[in-house]
Amino acid sequence: MTSSAARAPWAPFPLSRPRRLRASPWRRALVAETRLAPSDLIWPIFVMEGEGREDPVESLPGVSRLTLDRALVRVEEAAKLGIPCVTLFPYVDSSLKTHDCAEAWNPDNLICRVIRALKREIPEIGVMTDVALDPYSLHGHDGILRDGRIANDASVEALVRQAMAQAEAGADVIGPSDMMDGRIGALRAALEAGGFQDALIMSYTAKYASAFYGPFRDAVGSGANFGKGEDVPKDKKTYQMNPANGDEALKEAALDLSEGADMLMVKPGLPYLDLCRRLKDAFGAPTFAYQVSGEYAMIQAAARNGWIDGERAMMETLTSFKRAGCDGVLTYFAVEAAKRLRAEAP
Ligand code: PBG
Repeated sequence: MTSSAARAPWAPFPLSRPRRLRASPWRRALVAETRLAPSDLIWPIFVMEGEGREDPVESLPGVSRLTLDRALVRVEEAAKLGIPCVTLFPYVDSSLKTHDCAEAWNPDNLICRVIRALKREIPEIGVMTDVALDPYSLHGHDGILRDGRIANDASVEALVRQAMAQAEAGADVIGPSDMMDGRIGALRAALEAGGFQDALIMSYTAKYASAFYGPFRDAVGSGANFGKGEDVPKDKKTYQMNPANGDEALKEAALDLSEGADMLMVKPGLPYLDLCRRLKDAFGAPTFAYQVSGEYAMIQAAARNGWIDGERAMMETLTSFKRAGCDGVLTYFAVEAAKRLRAEAP
């Protein structure tokens, strides 16, 4: 194998002095290979019932669950900063959680009401949704539980109903995060049949069974009961991917694209940058990374202890996703990063 250094045409030192290109800000700007912009960011937000409230999520410093009126205010600010899209996650009251997860496709559920209000009040921003049953299930799993297993095909049926309710409410991007087999094809067929030809699907293509989702489960309230009860699987390893696998992500991506996905996502982000690059190189499709709750929380925790410069770590990690081939990033830093980028803009 030839290393890229051996193939490169550079003359040896001192004819080549790489530091020449780093010697001043204008030189560095001129030769920067990647650039991050507010238009690269998708902002995940947590919504809850009620009015006039923003409840901080303890394990996600700087992130709050928002009531609908507060979400409208915050999303309008995000739109003004040039953020093109938000993605919604619900905090669902435990009285609405059931074995069959029927609240997920109630056309008047919290998420559908928020979608309708956002599309009515702030039509210029894209609205993406989460398709998975974990906020609505008694046990915090993403699918339907039968005989101690997450039943694939029954789950896909439920997920299609959930996505159709979201599409009917006006969702622009359907984001299946469940990792059931065949769900992209089933969703695409239902959207076509329902007259939603322009509804985008961003598939959570390579979603790993990760330790980095902890704070998210607090935020949506699916953590407390997760895996509790007899015959309830204690983890999501039978549907989310094994962190040891990379080639398998290419198989998932090939299937998703053949089934009608418009965009691919890798999740979590930083520990899986190799997959961002591999998917982009192999398929050239719009590719996104989800910088998940645990990644965000780690940076915030270290910054709040004075151990790292949080703002620089934020910008460095977001830039690394672009360098790894991503077209954009889902990040809880979206608003802060967009503000910073606009302040820096010439
Ligand atoms: C559930 C879902 C999860 C996240 C997004 N959708 C958690 C999980 O799979 O357990 C995680 C996002 C984050 O950690 O920020 N379908």
